[in-house]
Amino acid sequence: GGTREPIDAVRVLANRSSGKQGYAIAAEAAARGAQVTLVSTVDLSVPAGVTVARVDTAAEMQAALEHLAPASDVVVMAAAVADFRPKAPATHKLKKHDGVPEIVLEPTPDILAGLGAGKRPGQVLVGFAAETDDLAANATSKLVNKRVDMIVANDVGAPATGFGYDTNAVTIFLADGDPVAVPLSDKRAIAAAVLDQIVARRARLGNN
Ligand code: C5P
Repeated sequence: GGTREPIDAVRVLANRSSGKQGYAIAAEAAARGAQVTLVSTVDLSVPAGVTVARVDTAAEMQAALEHLAPASDVVVMAAAVADFRPKAPATHKLKKHDGVPEIVLEPTPDILAGLGAGKRPGQVLVGFAAETDDLAANATSKLVNKRVDMIVANDVGAPATGFGYDTNAVTIFLADGDPVAVPLSDKRAIAAAVLDQIVARRARLGNN
């Protein structure tokens, strides 16, 4: 899901990500026999056999990933991590009678790029991308810049895809192969297509 970055004691900067695609990937991986930890900002029903680590902010998500990723064979970053957060969140509630606040933002850490930089041999890293324009060019540059094995690109401009819907349409861009288009399907079927590519990539890297 989306991260929630505090503005003050009661308000957050959030986004529209529902978490459904990430939960579907966790469910599909567990159904295939993987040992799965789902790091999530949302409370959907937990798939059978999945352990959940609940986080709110990008910083909390990064800490959870830094703890979990080194021992993981596969990391899938389906989360909509905020790119910016309030620089100095107020510890109290900002009051209306104090006037309209100026909220200064700062960048969050790029969790996936950090995992890419520290990737160990044989580990498979999967990123997501939500793009309205230049899908292929943006996904390809993310593959290289973040040192990941594949980027699952949502076409957020297409009908019934992405945030909040139960369906999605994606193109999976691979570091070592041609892109794979997955037409409009429910998010569990998208998850299965992503897992198929992960299994194939692991085999190419000499794992099974
Ligand atoms: O660069 P962009 O935000 O489009 O990349 C999206 C991918 O990077 C997603 O897999 C998302 O989970 C991850 N990401 C991240 N940390 C950020 C921003 C994005 O891990 N601060």
